[in-house]
Amino acid sequence: MTEQTFIFLKPDAVKRGLVGQVLARFESRGLTIASLKQLKISNDLADRHYEEHVEKSFYPGLRSYVTAAPVVAAILEGPNAVSVVRAMCGATNPAESAPGTIRGDFGLTLDANIIHSSDSSESAEREIKNFFA
Ligand code: PPS
Repeated sequence: MTEQTFIFLKPDAVKRGLVGQVLARFESRGLTIASLKQLKISNDLADRHYEEHVEKSFYPGLRSYVTAAPVVAAILEGPNAVSVVRAMCGATNPAESAPGTIRGDFGLTLDANIIHSSDSSESAEREIKNFFA
C-alpha cells in the first residue's frame, strides 16, 4: 500500500554532512522524496512534534538538541513507507541499532541518534501537518 511517512535529520546529521548519504539510502530503496526542506525547529514546533514526551525527564535535553541548529525534514512516499523507513532507521538507541541501519551506521548515542521517523501512519499525518503546513 502506497503511503507517506515523515522523517527529519537531526542537527548532528546536518552538521556532519550526512544528509545526502541518508536520503540516497531512501531513494535507492525505491522511496520517493515528496517534499524536502531545511528549517530550524522552534520550541513550539518541538513541543507539538514530541507532544507525548514533553513531560518525560529526557525531554528538556531533547528539545534543546533539536532546536539548536537546522534540521532537514522530508516526506517520503512508497509502499509501506512507515514500516520500511522505521526498519531502515533501526532501533531508537544507536547502541542497539543493527549495523546496516541508519542509526547503526552513523550514530553512537541516544541523545544524538541522527534521525526521527514516524512510528505509524497516524503519527506521520500529524507530523507532516506540523512541519509542512
Ligand atoms: S520511539 O522510536 O518513538 O518508539 O522511541 P521512544 O523510546 O518512545 O522515544 C521517543 C523519542 O524520544 C527520544 N528519546 C531520547 N532523546 C534523548 N535522550 C533520551 N534519553 C531519550 N529517550 C528517548 C527518542 O530518540 C525519540 O525521538 P525520535 O525523534 O523519534 O528519535
